[in-house]
Amino acid sequence: MKQVIAIDGPSGSGKTTIAKLIAEELGFNYLDTGALYRAVAMALIKNKIRPEDTDDKLRDILKETLVTFNNGRVFLNGQDVSEDIRSKEIDHYSSVFSARKIVRDFLLDAQREAALHNDLVVEGRDTTTVVFPDAKKKIFLDASVEERAKRRYLQFRGQGIDITMDEAKMNITERDKRDASRDIAPLRIAEEALLIDSSNLSIEQVKNNIIEFVRTTR
Ligand code: DC
Repeated sequence: MKQVIAIDGPSGSGKTTIAKLIAEELGFNYLDTGALYRAVAMALIKNKIRPEDTDDKLRDILKETLVTFNNGRVFLNGQDVSEDIRSKEIDHYSSVFSARKIVRDFLLDAQREAALHNDLVVEGRDTTTVVFPDAKKKIFLDASVEERAKRRYLQFRGQGIDITMDEAKMNITERDKRDASRDIAPLRIAEEALLIDSSNLSIEQVKNNIIEFVRTTR
């Protein structure tokens, strides 16, 4: 395994933006594991799978599903779905289906393979705890619910998606609860992780904190 810098945190904490910048600065590859879960959720919904369906039903669809991540883009069965996975519906279902063991197992090897030949910055919910427990550096990126809801609101508005601040806050709160309370690989702070609260920090400040942590600690 090559060097891995793993960043976990709740939705809207800024992981994706920060991880991309860190990877660029260090010349590492970058992997957005949330995008993989989103693409899987999209495959399941397209095939009319419901959250209450059995593992066997999910397995039938997963057998026919190929999810890949390349150069910041995510592909579902060869089709670039990078924009389509950023909808309110996929926000919800990616959180729901990611609580299923069969879905997590399906994506585990693909995530680990990303660090076989390239140094990697990876971000998600369990990259510091389950996927890369031996990562060289671990970071937990957080921010207040209000700040994360504001970011989500602005992101959706920027995409032309209609949403109110209240809805954005509900969306974030609901996903926080589900992602942190599930039985398998819940979101939690790894023991050795550097904890950063980005509520009152600029993107540049968060990036610099992490770069300093990576360069100055062993
Ligand atoms: O980071 P994101 O919001 O794009 O992730 C979408 C959903 O995928 C999130 O609600 C929980 C799930 N997820 C996960 O369970 N484990 C990861 N490593 C990344 C995301």
